Amino acid sequence: MATAASPHALLVQNPNRSSKSSFLKNPITTITTFPSNNAHFATSMRSNKPLSITCATQVQDRSSTTQTPQSQERVFNFAAGPAILPENVLKKAESELYIWRGSGMSVMEMSHRGKDFLSIIEKAEADLRKLLNIPSDYTVLFLQGGATTQFAAIPLNLCNPEDPVDYLVTGSWGDKAVKEAQKFCKPNVIWSGKSEKYTKIPSFDALEQNPDAKYLHICANETIHGVEFKNYPIPKNKDGILVADMSSNFCSKPVDVSKFGIIYAGAQKNVGPSGVTIVIIKNDLIGNAQPITPEMLDYKIHADNKSLYNTPPCYGIYMCGLVFEDLLDQGGLEEVQKKNMKKAEILYNTIDASNGFYRCPVEKSVRSLMNVPFTLEKSDLEAEFIKEAAKEKMVQLKGHRSVGGMRASIYNAMPLAGVEKLVAFMKDFQARHA
Ligand SMILES: Cc1ncc(COP(=O)(O)O)c(C=O)c1O
Repeated sequence: MATAASPHALLVQNPNRSSKSSFLKNPITTITTFPSNNAHFATSMRSNKPLSITCATQVQDRSSTTQTPQSQERVFNFAAGPAILPENVLKKAESELYIWRGSGMSVMEMSHRGKDFLSIIEKAEADLRKLLNIPSDYTVLFLQGGATTQFAAIPLNLCNPEDPVDYLVTGSWGDKAVKEAQKFCKPNVIWSGKSEKYTKIPSFDALEQNPDAKYLHICANETIHGVEFKNYPIPKNKDGILVADMSSNFCSKPVDVSKFGIIYAGAQKNVGPSGVTIVIIKNDLIGNAQPITPEMLDYKIHADNKSLYNTPPCYGIYMCGLVFEDLLDQGGLEEVQKKNMKKAEILYNTIDASNGFYRCPVEKSVRSLMNVPFTLEKSDLEAEFIKEAAKEKMVQLKGHRSVGGMRASIYNAMPLAGVEKLVAFMKDFQARHA
């Protein structure tokens, strides 16, 4: 039997065949030609065969991203990134996947220069500007290559090869950023938490910043070590430029963008799928790239072309736009921060109240709201913990390979119910193994 008789024919699973068809529970198109006396349909239903039917291209309007309860089939995903996305955003994307709002095609099929995609990227930028209250003298770029590419792009755009820059290293990502910068300028590590296994952030007063440095670089939230800046050092370099890797706490709380020269973030933790890198840059830092800078790393080229110099990650940008819309619907980043604080509080409290059964090595004042690393006093039980949690549909709790133990990443999209389930499991596990 042909299953794709026309561009609008869909393969619909026979509902008698499997009760688990999520497609039928959640149809994305409105069936308009469905004759009840159709003999072919009746035969297919009886014979347990897949059935081809013709659907209109009309799309159900699910324009509001209202909260939906966690589906029974989904796990609680505590991965560090790519990470959990809001269920209502995924459902909205599902409803628009085949045909985006009457355009006759999927976002994945659209020209990045057509009016439909332009409306998507412009709305994504406008919503991000609202969320973070981004001043008008800052440019927002949607790029590719991950935050790792920015480790090179930043010195290439902001320095000459002999220029000094300051790096404050509070974890492995900051360390990687320095190593890459060494190829393009003269970075100096003004403080490193390595000898204390990246569990601290120093007092800012004690930092010896170089007044000639082109910028001061920090990683606002170290994803692997769970160390997060709660406030930011004032850059003492001549131009007062602070640069922050916010990959793993981007849009998790309000941030005063005007304090930064550049904020950059890979999308795949808090705001979308992997493949999109967001750069927020003060306009006067654009246009001074080193002559060797590849075009794809030159902020001016991307700024002049409104992030459309080459084919951008269109679908990823669309997904980020849906997430921004959802964060605004939740009441903005102050509301989001309250939820994140509540989730982190119950998890850290459980660890701290366990009489040492669980331990978080990070100094309390700088513990991350996003990534919670912890170990078990009886380390030989860690594999069992991870296995049992997975059976309870709580996955990706294994710590990063460089530090071991466990890590629960509880980004914006992790519902409170997910953290409540985890702490209930932790208490039960402790009662059985203490
Ligand atoms: C804080 C931080 N910076 C940089 C990176 C690297 O990002 P990407 O893999 O997008 O290059 C990560 C990835 O996990 C990260 O957590």
